[in-house]
Amino acid sequence: MGCSKVTKDQAVGIIKGYEQVVAIINKYGKAKEQLLSILLDIQASSGKNYVAEEWAEVVACQLDLPITKVYDVLTFYAMFNIEPRGRYVIEICKSTPCQVAKADAVVALFEEALGIKLGETTPDNLFTLMHTSCVGACDIGPVAKIGDEVYGNLTAAKVAELVRSYRGVSSCQK
Ligand code: FES
Repeated sequence: MGCSKVTKDQAVGIIKGYEQVVAIINKYGKAKEQLLSILLDIQASSGKNYVAEEWAEVVACQLDLPITKVYDVLTFYAMFNIEPRGRYVIEICKSTPCQVAKADAVVALFEEALGIKLGETTPDNLFTLMHTSCVGACDIGPVAKIGDEVYGNLTAAKVAELVRSYRGVSSCQK
C-alpha cells in the first residue's frame, strides 16, 4: 500500500496554518477591501515573511476574489514576498552608479557578516540578502535598503554596525 508523502507533523502544521489564515480573514470580516491588511497579517504570521501559494488561494476563496487579483496585489507591492524570506531583507543596489561605487564589495561584506551568499536566508530566518535595482539614492552609493530604510556610503564598519543593530533590535523584541 502506498503511503502519503505528508508526515503527521507536516499535516498538523498545515492545519494550524490554515486555521491561522482563516482566523485572520475572519478578523477583517472577510472584507474584500481589507485584502492588503489580510495579506500583511498572513505574511507577518508566516514565520518566514511570505505569503505561500496555498494561503493566497485560501484568501481568494474566502473573499470570493479571483486568485489573479490576489497575486496582482502580492506582486505589485514591494513589501510582499511570495517566497520565504528572513525578517529583514537586505537589498543591495546593483544599478550602474552603485556598481561604480563598489556595490560588489558591499555584497561581499554582508555575505561575510551574515555567513550566507546572495539570495540566501540566514538559518535563524532573520536576514535574506538580495540585489535590487536603483532605489533613487545614487548620490550616496553604494546603497543597501532594509525594509523602508536606505543606507548609503557603506563601508566595512557601517555594514558590521548595521548587522549588529538589526540583530540587536530583533533580540530586544523577543
Ligand atoms: S544606482 Fe544605486 S541607488 Fe541609484
